[in-house]
Amino acid sequence: MFGKIIGTGSYVPENIVTNNDLTKIVETSDSWIEERTGVKQRHLMKNETTATMATEAAKRAVENAGIKPEEIDVIVVSTVSSNLILPNTACFVQEQIGAINAFCFDINTACTGFMMAYNTVQSYINSGLVKTALIIGAEGLSRIVDWSDRGTCILFGDGAGAAIVKASEAAVFETVMKSDGRKGSALTCYNGFATRPRKIFTEEKQEISDIYEKTNGQESSDTFVKMDGQEIFRFAVKEVPKCINELMEKMNITSDDVDMFVLHQANLRICQGIAKRLKISMDKVPTNVSEYGNTSSACIPILLDELFKAGKLKKGDKIIMSGFGAGVTLAATYLEIC
Ligand code: ACO
Repeated sequence: MFGKIIGTGSYVPENIVTNNDLTKIVETSDSWIEERTGVKQRHLMKNETTATMATEAAKRAVENAGIKPEEIDVIVVSTVSSNLILPNTACFVQEQIGAINAFCFDINTACTGFMMAYNTVQSYINSGLVKTALIIGAEGLSRIVDWSDRGTCILFGDGAGAAIVKASEAAVFETVMKSDGRKGSALTCYNGFATRPRKIFTEEKQEISDIYEKTNGQESSDTFVKMDGQEIFRFAVKEVPKCINELMEKMNITSDDVDMFVLHQANLRICQGIAKRLKISMDKVPTNVSEYGNTSSACIPILLDELFKAGKLKKGDKIIMSGFGAGVTLAATYLEIC
């Protein structure tokens, strides 16, 4: 048995920053950003944190599902940009919403994260370990973006999306997941503490000295997102269609059988490039990147929430979701609305 999505919720900060606003801090223009990426604006945290956005999205998903927080057996948060390292963000959400019976953990697979969270809880449900799962993609990317780098800061936004997945005889699940660490350098961000001094004992263990984490060559500027945009573009447009095709072959279906492809909202040109290679119309590829920018692992659940709330996902609809990003990592997962 697998799980079905019985409720969704999302949260984005009220604070909207337009492309024109960004021209005040970096040399760019509204037209350059929109033409190259499809982004018109993004929502950025003011008083929020990644953990509070995750909590708000979770509360909305729980309410939408019509369940009690006590019914949740596991909470999985996908994030690369939480304000919290300890405790994990999932435990923070647990405490905030009163999901006292859940076990909780965070995962980091960047923009593939929500897919990984979904696939993980499907495996738990299938093994009989859990019945009801809360999965969340939450990102405060504005805290790790270099606001002086026009090549990256124009792309990203903050937000969170959540879903409740509950065991159901009717649920269908299939997935293909991949990683290629050899391409890891295309998109990096070192931990903020990587460049802090730390203490070591000298060889004689008599003295204590300060050292800086230089072994991997990190500098403080490396604690912001660094991206080889063209490498990421090539990876996404080439590998994501292959991954989706592999999933369809595994299921013995074609793109004609699929009603909608819910893709990670990296940027509009990437979504268009993937659609072109799959030979599918953009009518089957919903996007909201113009409003929110790229919110990494929050993209897919925010989009799913919007689609459900707008009545665009009906019983029987066949969906392929695909996340892809840093690592590099990617996944394509089949979802049937039931
Ligand atoms: N405004 C104006 N000019 C800019 C900007 C900007 N914001 N950013 C770069 N430029 C300039 C560059 O300096 C360069 O100028 P030059 O020719 O004088 O040197 C010129 O524009 C072209 O720069 P490129 O980097 O070659 O621009 P490109 O056409 O590759 O577009 C972009 C950059 C939009 C980042 C593109 O590479 C892309 O879409 N990559 C995918 C990255 C992505 O979506 N990442 C999301 C995170 S990863 C994920 O979610 C999977």
